[in-house]
Amino acid sequence: MDVYHGPGNRLLVAASRTDGLVGMGGVADGVIRRLFVIEKWRGRGIARALVMRLIALHRSVSSQPLTALVAGWNVPARKLFLSRGFQPTGLFPQDPKMAGCEILSLPDFQARPQDV
Ligand SMILES: CC(C)(COP(=O)(O)OP(=O)(O)OC[C@H]1O[C@@H](n2cnc3c(N)ncnc32)[C@H](O)[C@@H]1OP(=O)(O)O)[C@@H](O)C(=O)NCCC(=O)NCCS
Repeated sequence: MDVYHGPGNRLLVAASRTDGLVGMGGVADGVIRRLFVIEKWRGRGIARALVMRLIALHRSVSSQPLTALVAGWNVPARKLFLSRGFQPTGLFPQDPKMAGCEILSLPDFQARPQDV
């Protein structure tokens, strides 16, 4: 969990009164990590809310791009990030465990005048 120390680095959780912890997502050093929503609670906008909050956290400390690593087969995650403005910027072949992962990046905040 040390990775979440430092400015703008945070692990967020989503909880419900009935089921407790239902989702989570973090950002550390410009990379989105551990985004997950339990099956029962999927499709209700929880991941979108987490990602929007993570984007805001990152932008509060950095104007550098924000990145997510998404497996090619992961249609829900890919759609989610593309719908929030992330763009494909490459594949991630270096680490065999991450083979087939796509790098999706949200461009530099200052390069997006519509966001100012
Ligand atoms: C990917 C995941 C986090 C999405 O969580 P969620 O709370 O269900 O997502 P949301 O309800 O916030 O949906 C946000 C957007 O994601 C996309 N999406 C979510 N579920 C989808 C599905 N089954 N099929 C296609 N797109 C989907 C859509 O673009 C959706 O926006 P829309 O509702 O306007 O169409 C969830 O499926 C999950 O935990 N999967 C397993 C872990 C994982 O893959 N994590 C991501 C690693 S990079």
